[in-house]
Amino acid sequence: MKRIAVLTSGGDCSGMNATLRAVVRAGLASGLEVIGIQKGFQGLIDRLYESMNTRSVSNILQRGGTILQSARCKEMRTESGLRLASENLKGMGVEGLIVIGGDGSLKGGYAIHRQGIPVIGIPGSIDNDIPFTDVSLGVDTALNNIVRAVDNLKDTASSHDRAFVVEIMGRNCGYLTVAATIAAGAEHSLIPEEPYNLDHICDDLRRRFQEGRSNSIIMVAEGAGKAEDIANQIKDRIGFETRIIVLGHYQRGGSPSVSDRLLGARFGQAAVENLINENGGMMVGLKGADIILTDLETVTLSGIRLINPMLLKLANQLLV
Ligand code: F6P
Repeated sequence: MKRIAVLTSGGDCSGMNATLRAVVRAGLASGLEVIGIQKGFQGLIDRLYESMNTRSVSNILQRGGTILQSARCKEMRTESGLRLASENLKGMGVEGLIVIGGDGSLKGGYAIHRQGIPVIGIPGSIDNDIPFTDVSLGVDTALNNIVRAVDNLKDTASSHDRAFVVEIMGRNCGYLTVAATIAAGAEHSLIPEEPYNLDHICDDLRRRFQEGRSNSIIMVAEGAGKAEDIANQIKDRIGFETRIIVLGHYQRGGSPSVSDRLLGARFGQAAVENLINENGGMMVGLKGADIILTDLETVTLSGIRLINPMLLKLANQLLV
């Protein structure tokens, strides 16, 4: 194997640059040429690429986002788009591809693998919804962003006896909300995986107010509802005015945490090593302290990663 390529795809996350750095430097150290594809699969279709050297990835370790940029590419879901992407890769002389991204990106990677180009997937998504890895790249940094934001909100909420509804990312998966409920402290936690009872939440808010509690935090995963709707419903039911905040894309940016830097370095190096060892068609993941491999077919057919029931139980026990 002489030439490999790497791309970042779907929603960006912190730690992608740390991973790129590891891919490029581990690849070069093994005597490979490393091509960086810009703007995810779209760049593969549009032939946007550059040869990477050690300097291409200098000074990026501490930066969020992705220097290669990313995109959500609808064309990759069509037969013609997939064929063009694969032909372009072969035309570039690429013998292996590393795809860093979430579930849609891993599906795209697997589709390319089936076209005869070995692919290794690296799970990167703040949602932590990818199965067969304890954690995906970007989750830890996103959680730190959320916790910092909620800590700040509690200061101002406490100064005014206020309740805040905080909307947290996660279309289909409430992991970030559950983990933030534990790490930042919340009174209520609404996630797509579990039903919730707004009457109960309203009763509890009233009780807390009567008890003189200075702040209440209601966390809602975007897949479970919109902060604005929840706030309006609370107002309609008990006339209680809350404040809302949609943390949105703020959660995705920022300098990666140490965990994400280390994870990115380990994932990147393992991806290169496994391409060289002809283990294409696999996703790298973290299981305990170890890097593991799972075939992309299994990953992409398995649906979203379920939240550990022990974590859910813990979060529920800590809600008061
Ligand atoms: O999948 C990661 C994610 O950040 C989700 O939590 C969120 O729903 C979505 O991406 C937002 O996508 P976009 O950046 O395309 O608006």
